[in-house]
Amino acid sequence: MAEEAVLGFLQTNDQISDSHQFAASVGVGHTELENVIKSLKGFEIVDAQEITRQSWVLTEEGKKYMVNGSPEALFFSAIPPEGISRNTLKEKLGIETFDIGSKAAAKNKWIAFDKDLVKRKVESVEDEVKNLLTRINNGEVVSDQVINDLKRRKLIVKQTWKGYLLKRGPKYVSKRKKAATDLTREHIVSGDWKNLEFKEYNVNAEARAIQVGYLHSLLEVREEIQNIFLQMGFEEMPTNNFVESSFWNFDALFQPQQHPARDSHDTFFLETADRTKDLPEDYLKNVKRVHEFGGYGSKGYGYDWKRDEAEKNLLRTHTTAVSTRMLYALAQQETFTPKRYYSIDRVFRNEAVDRTHLAEFHQIEGVICDRGLTLGDLIGVLEDFFSRLGMSKLRFKPAYNPYTEPSMEIFSYHDGLQKWVEVGNSGMFRPEMLLPMGLPEDVNVIAWGLSLERPTMILYGISNIRDLFGPKVDFDLIKNNPICRLGI
Ligand code: PHE
Repeated sequence: MAEEAVLGFLQTNDQISDSHQFAASVGVGHTELENVIKSLKGFEIVDAQEITRQSWVLTEEGKKYMVNGSPEALFFSAIPPEGISRNTLKEKLGIETFDIGSKAAAKNKWIAFDKDLVKRKVESVEDEVKNLLTRINNGEVVSDQVINDLKRRKLIVKQTWKGYLLKRGPKYVSKRKKAATDLTREHIVSGDWKNLEFKEYNVNAEARAIQVGYLHSLLEVREEIQNIFLQMGFEEMPTNNFVESSFWNFDALFQPQQHPARDSHDTFFLETADRTKDLPEDYLKNVKRVHEFGGYGSKGYGYDWKRDEAEKNLLRTHTTAVSTRMLYALAQQETFTPKRYYSIDRVFRNEAVDRTHLAEFHQIEGVICDRGLTLGDLIGVLEDFFSRLGMSKLRFKPAYNPYTEPSMEIFSYHDGLQKWVEVGNSGMFRPEMLLPMGLPEDVNVIAWGLSLERPTMILYGISNIRDLFGPKVDFDLIKNNPICRLGI
């Protein structure tokens, strides 16, 4: 409707000088008209020039005066010819009208106070303020003096408004054909399509962003690493038990019961379901013996091994507990078969949380069990594994684990950081760990472990682990991270 009005008016007139007045004259809101103007301008059907104007509009109080009369006029009219007592008048008018009205009426010399009495000084008065407000409300121009007075009394305020001056544009038409956006069956059947104007496709318009679910960066990297293990012929271990007994987490790994890692400062122990009763008794005896007296060429630790300590339940501190269960199961088979096992799952340590540490993380673990393996095999498999992760410059540093000998920390040269960073821990499981299980004497096990978080943070340039994992995880980061491609 607004569009027809504008185009129709411009057919017989040169211009619409003020879009606000025009909107009012045809009875549409200015916002609606403005939308029409913008569309017509876009197609060069009209020429629209922005204009700004300032005008005076009545405040709420100003509107009230315009309708009911000014307080001074109300004050005057309320005084009978014989006069009236202040208090009666105050009651009649209300305190506000009385106060404002008395001052203004006195200033106008309309009234006089005689002790307690209020009297008229003139016969009749003209409500000039009401008249002026009505004129301003009608858009009439009044003198600066008047404007200043009314402004001081807060009856009017200045309003700036934006409007348009409209003229016919280069592509002016008196009636615009609505461009069709789709060619429909009906168009074809009726033959309408012959007369229709079709809207052009805007091939530069940006497509709407698609809302889909996103894989967490840790899951993406986990999958890549899983693929590497599978390519290297590894089988996945069942790691679906966060709660473990101290026996499988520590004792079976030849970790003595006084070892500091077995302290509650480092490990989370369970309060409820605090003990595991069901342990493999024969094997447990062997473990006790090797801790106390050694055997298999070892002297043992020479202390009094306590079953109670081994029964304590905890949140596993490493997935090596699962590897140990797997090796024990392997040892129980009639004939030994070589195995390559891997796992990637959560472990828990009672650590102070900071930018790079949480009390839980994901451990990646690889284990190879075969006859006659050597340290050279371990180094070789590590070089293969890490080069597939994109880390081909490795260094090894002698280290200590209670369950491996020799043990090696793994360092990788980080080109971005220009330094060697520790990326994992590894070793050959000790005879004190393997032989009590019943594995053949010539069977060796090489193994390594690393965190999933460390390579993920390096890969995605994340410096605070809390952005990656936990309640403060950064959703934008998860959403916008590129697909993980290792080894490129
Ligand atoms: N369990 C070790 C750790 O938690 C990793 C490891 C696994 C080390 C296997 C050597 C052999 O860091």
